[in-house]
Amino acid sequence: MNITIVGTGYVGLVTGACFAKIGHNCLCIDNDQSKISSLQAGEIPFYEPGLSELVTEMCTAGRLTFSTDSAEGVQRSPVIFIAVGTPATPSGKADLSYIEQVARTIAQSMNEYKVVVEKSTVPVQTGERVRMTIDRHISSEIPFDVASNPEFLREGSAIEDALHPDRIVLGVESERAESLLREVYAPLDAPILVTNIGSAEIIKHASNSFLAMKISYANALSQICELANADIDEVARGVGLDRRIGENFLRAGVGYGGSCFPKDVDAFCDIASELGYEFRLLQEVQAINREQRRYFLRKIEDALWIVKEKTVTIFGLSFKPNTDDLRQAPSLDVIEWLLEHGAKVHAHDPKAIPAMRKLYGDRIRYFEDPYEAAQDADCVAILTEWQIYGDLDLTRLKDSMKQAVMVDGRNLFDPQEVIGLGFEYKSIGRR
Ligand code: UGA
Repeated sequence: MNITIVGTGYVGLVTGACFAKIGHNCLCIDNDQSKISSLQAGEIPFYEPGLSELVTEMCTAGRLTFSTDSAEGVQRSPVIFIAVGTPATPSGKADLSYIEQVARTIAQSMNEYKVVVEKSTVPVQTGERVRMTIDRHISSEIPFDVASNPEFLREGSAIEDALHPDRIVLGVESERAESLLREVYAPLDAPILVTNIGSAEIIKHASNSFLAMKISYANALSQICELANADIDEVARGVGLDRRIGENFLRAGVGYGGSCFPKDVDAFCDIASELGYEFRLLQEVQAINREQRRYFLRKIEDALWIVKEKTVTIFGLSFKPNTDDLRQAPSLDVIEWLLEHGAKVHAHDPKAIPAMRKLYGDRIRYFEDPYEAAQDADCVAILTEWQIYGDLDLTRLKDSMKQAVMVDGRNLFDPQEVIGLGFEYKSIGRR
């Protein structure tokens, strides 16, 4: 089937490449000419495992193309996915202006029946707004449907998630739209849930918020465990082995980051409040997340006493492993605080250094090698659980440091083992 995707950001590009992989002819549209030229030259603007190879393979097979011509994009395909950004405004509301713009463009170029599908994460009732916008700008009586098909892929494992989803949610308002969307997903072996548009929109926000809630729950427990001389990893395992709860997303740490959870939880609170419900549970989820970063910083301060002039090495800049994405990464808050307190910051990350350099320039020092980054450091702070840190030779690391202090925000190591090697070791919620 011919499919058009508007927006070549993270979701748009991964979705386009994966639709091509399962046999569709996918055209990805973006109004940013330089982005489209780079994609046509095979350059991917961010790091995602396997994506570059998949895009090249699909372009070579002729099933994935890129263009700035939105009219062509609208006219060639019966199904058009909107995958443009919905960034947060300062008040926490989702900015839907790009969605509106795309809806207008689609309306102006429509030649025959289309299903216009929201793929971006949007607040409930956006579907109605998209329908209203298309209605207003369409020039003749062309039938169309709006649908919501939220995306559940995670950065770092996006292709796997897109090709093997736990479920596919189709929020539709006609049989015609449902049958076209079923055809899109027919090659995938995954349960399909058909709902109305509002339910599909809420399922996306509710899923992300629930996962964020699990993390904040584990983080709140981590503080109680520490006060009670218990161990959060043991507690999370004991709780998570109950199949009704599940072990996933109960890992305590420095708090969640990324382009989704912080933004989506805020946006969900905002739309709930607009509808007349104060979502205090989720407001607290966000508050616990912010507090967890301060709790981590107190550990660094406690370990160093005087932070000024001390060298702190950060292991892990991206908000999670296997990505170079720095959006809402804990590293940004931690580094800002360290610099404000007069520390010298050394940074290591397998992928995110170029992105970090754009933000911090020479305010911090960057290293390709973790042992060099820790040379003469007063403290190593672990913020992202990249595999390379779990594999470190800790004796070699300790020997390179000025003082062997490690503050581990991801509970990567066994405390007994690290302390046995001579480190002063602080982690999250453990004895
Ligand atoms: C998240 C959701 O998991 C996806 O299902 C969703 O499609 C996506 O948002 C989106 O809305 O686009 P993502 O933000 O890429 O995906 O990454 P996650 O793996 O969910 O991690 C989010 C944050 O939670 C990271 O900072 C991670 O370190 C943290 N986390 C995760 C924990 O602190 N503890 C855990 O147990 C799990």
